[in-house]
This record gives sequence, structure tokens and C-alpha cells, in this order.
Amino acid sequence: MKIKSKTITASSPGKLMLLGEHAVVFGFPCLVTAVDSRLKVTASKITVGPDRFQTPQVKECRFIQKAVQFFKQKYQINQSVCLTTQSDFSARVGLGSSSAVTVATFLALSYLFGQNLSRRTIFDLSYQVTLAIQKVGSGFDIAAATYGGILYYVTGGQVIKPLKAELPSLIIGYSGIKADTPSLIKKVQADYQKNPQKVKKIFQDISCLVDLGKEMLLKKNYPRFGWLMNQNHLLLQKLGVSSPKLDFLVKTALQSGAYGAKLSGAGGGDCMIALCPQAKSQAVAEAIQKAGGELIAVLPNAEGVRLEDR
Ligand code: PMV
Repeated sequence: MKIKSKTITASSPGKLMLLGEHAVVFGFPCLVTAVDSRLKVTASKITVGPDRFQTPQVKECRFIQKAVQFFKQKYQINQSVCLTTQSDFSARVGLGSSSAVTVATFLALSYLFGQNLSRRTIFDLSYQVTLAIQKVGSGFDIAAATYGGILYYVTGGQVIKPLKAELPSLIIGYSGIKADTPSLIKKVQADYQKNPQKVKKIFQDISCLVDLGKEMLLKKNYPRFGWLMNQNHLLLQKLGVSSPKLDFLVKTALQSGAYGAKLSGAGGGDCMIALCPQAKSQAVAEAIQKAGGELIAVLPNAEGVRLEDR
């Protein structure tokens, strides 16, 4: 009788930054939500030849390969594996496909080899992979992919606090331009070196918004949270990371009745987000689309990494 070999599938959610990007790289807190578009990794053992990777998106492959390498080194495994991926979202929109694929790879390997990794270990290993490849980054995306929900987060996982919060009517508009996150982080780092007082003051102000935002989310005070998003966008403009297209989409959302709107992520491109009263969400979505934004239909507060039945 032929025995069917074990196949494990794990999936992780994408993410959106709610408040605090860039400042978080410098040790300040941020608020991030996991979103319900997921990336699946299926893993099995193979007996012949080297590891095999079937990933439709090339960018993911580097992360999977590094994750497999780190996992095998740490747990002293020689067996070859075959990994395939399947994604609900495109790597181009900035929802965090690299972090999602890395986290899901570690959970799949953990079950495949009976290692029983905790969420914290999956986070730590995934963050090491990100740093090995990208050199820079706070790991907020790794935290969202691992833990899910809405998190209050400090760089490197110094604080990962799940919030009992909700976010009704979040509209997401893709600017049509791919953000170059590592370059934008480096630009902000260079500005910080040139003018530390000015940049530090911006980070401190952003950090105050994040702390207030946490309170407002817990109190379900969405108009106030929206106002904090607007202030955060102004500070990101001051930091020089917004773009005319993102500014236009943000302005459009506000004119159509959003409580607040801002760019989400490194800036320069990728997505903007708008928080709206339920009754205005249709109008805001239509206005963003008319202004040239591509609507990305995802819900916040999604579950973190998990096993799938396949
Ligand atoms: O571009 P994204 O969606 O990966 O977001 C980057 C957010 C930064 O704060 C600029 C970087 C980071 O790692 O926190």
C-alpha cells in the first residue's frame, strides 16, 4: 500500500498600518491591523533532490528560501521540502505579502517537523528573515501576520499588545504606484542624521497620536480616531514621504465625508486608508475610485497565522 506523505498548509493575513509608520522604525509605537486577504503556504517532505519552491510571485521566493534555511539550521534538519504558495492578494499593493509568506512558512514547517513553535518564536524567526533580506524594518508586518487582530506594537516586538478594538468602514485605495519601502526608510534615516531635532520632534508627535489612537479605538470614538489619522498624514507630509497622488486621494476621502484619512505604510505609493461613518462609506469609496484610486476590498481585524484544512 502506498502511504500518502504528510502535507501541511498554513496561512497568514496581510496588514495595514493605522498610525505610526516611520516613527516605529526609530523605537516609537504604532497601531497595525491584520486584514482578511491571506497568503497560503503548503509544505511537504521530499526524499529526492534539493528543496523545491513553487511561488507565483518571485519576491516571495527569497523569503521562503531564507525561512527554510533558518528553520533547518535551528532545528538541525537535513530532509528536503517542497513549498508552494497561493495568495489572495498581489505583492504590488503593499499589504505585506513578504511577511505573510515568511510567517506562514514557519508555521507550516513547524507542523511538518513536529516542532510546536510558539507564536513568539515564529515572530522572532520571521523578523530575523526580514532583517537578513531587507536590512531595515520594524517588524510590524510580521507581528500582524503572526498575531492578527489590531495591535499596539513597538519595534522588534518589544511590545506586541492585541487590542480589543473594532474598525468599522475602513476604505482602502491603492495609488497605482509601488512603494519602495527600504529606500523610504533610508531617506528618513538620512534626514534624521541631517536634522535630528526636527525629525525627532515629528516622531514624538506621531507617537502621541498613536497613544491617543489606542485610547480612541478602545473607546470606539471613531470621529476622534479619524482626526488623529489626519494629523498623522500631515506629519508624514512634513517628513516628506507622501506623494501628490496619495494627498489627492486623502483629500478626496475627507471631502466625501470620511472621519479621517492617511497614507498607510512607507509612503510614496501603495495604499491610503479612510475611516468613514457607515452611511458615508459608499460615497467615500466611489469618490476614491473616481479620483484614480483602486479599491482594495479587505476587512480589518483578521485572524493571525493558522493551519488550513486545504
Ligand atoms: O511599506 P510598508 O507597508 O511595508 O510599511 C512600512 C512602514 C515603515 O514604518 C515605514 C517601515 C516599518 O518597517 O515599520
